Amino acid sequence: MYDVIAIGSVTRDVFFDASGLSTVPWKKTQSGRGIVLPLGDKIEAKEIYFTIGGNSANASVTFSRQDFNTACVGRVGRDVAGSEILNRLKKEKVYAGMISSDNKLPTAYSVLLLKNGERTILSYHGSSNDFSLDDFKLGDLKAKWWYLSLAGSSYKMYGKLLSYASREKIAVAFNPSGYHLKMDKKGILSSLKHISFLVLNEEEAAILTGIPFSNERAVFKKLDALMPGVLAVTNGSEGVTVSDGHFVYRASTFKEKKLADRTGAGDAFGSGFVAGLMKDGINLSNISRISEKEVKEAIIYASANATSVVEHVGATEGILTARELKQPRWENLKIKVEKL
Ligand SMILES: Nc1ncnc2c1ncn2[C@@H]1O[C@H](COP(=O)(O)OP(=O)(O)OP(=O)(O)O)[C@@H](O)[C@H]1O
Ligand SMILES: [Mg+2]
Repeated sequence: MYDVIAIGSVTRDVFFDASGLSTVPWKKTQSGRGIVLPLGDKIEAKEIYFTIGGNSANASVTFSRQDFNTACVGRVGRDVAGSEILNRLKKEKVYAGMISSDNKLPTAYSVLLLKNGERTILSYHGSSNDFSLDDFKLGDLKAKWWYLSLAGSSYKMYGKLLSYASREKIAVAFNPSGYHLKMDKKGILSSLKHISFLVLNEEEAAILTGIPFSNERAVFKKLDALMPGVLAVTNGSEGVTVSDGHFVYRASTFKEKKLADRTGAGDAFGSGFVAGLMKDGINLSNISRISEKEVKEAIIYASANATSVVEHVGATEGILTARELKQPRWENLKIKVEKL
């Protein structure tokens, strides 16, 4: 049996150094700026980095580097990008034998333009998009934990996956994709009773609850009432707020030495948190009795992993090994605890 199985998307990620490109103000965008690319011209990139991404690949690399027996489940195409993903996962000692190959669509592929630690992503979802229950045997997915994030139409298997997990006493960590949130908010809300760890960023928490995050108390109250497990709401470099149903924990972040690329911070945080829980022997049967010390430890694992990831280009490059996590750098994080 695996300690943990990550189920979701796997992608080929290619980063181009776009530091030479200009930006212009663009109010509608999240950053308020846009990258300018002259139509019809050729632009030379000084550097290029080939790596892998997708939440399932990213999370499984965290678990394996923390020495857990890990499998990754997803779908690739029958192409070079797909074989590269499988090879990289095998090198990471992640079991990739349950990743299916699609003979119709190419592997999900992202081109990321990097400028000043920020990035613009051109993404093609390909074979990851309609990854479904036909791609694997549910009976092969026995584990202590699952890490679940279902992109594109693969969200349709969510209900069946959760029924299996609760029958088999598998603790489920869940990070809903944007599309899943858009398509089935109601289904997600009513499923939270089966979720042991839910991780959302502030925007996702507001979408799921229908409550603006400025009313943080109401957001937590609504979600806490629906789930027995732990909830983390992240806010980029500002840090995170976590609730275990009894206490609220507010943590800042470990300061990064240099922001190289923030791709994968969310996945590094979510999977790092679950790795912290697993290290303390937390599972489905004891998650509702988690101690303050155990929650704090999970927050430290998660934050250290996320900071290390943003210091490297790519979503998996900076993921910490068990040895790296022991460095004194990751010892002290400011965490305030309040009664709910
Ligand atoms: N620049 C940073 N420096 C340090 N820590 C960071 C930084 N960015 C993110 N983190 C850590 O990672 C956590 C998750 O980041 P964030 O809120 O950006 O997730 P996200 O929106 O899900 O990101 P993603 O785009 O990867 O899905 C934060 O709560 C924080 O602890
Ligand atoms: Mg995210």
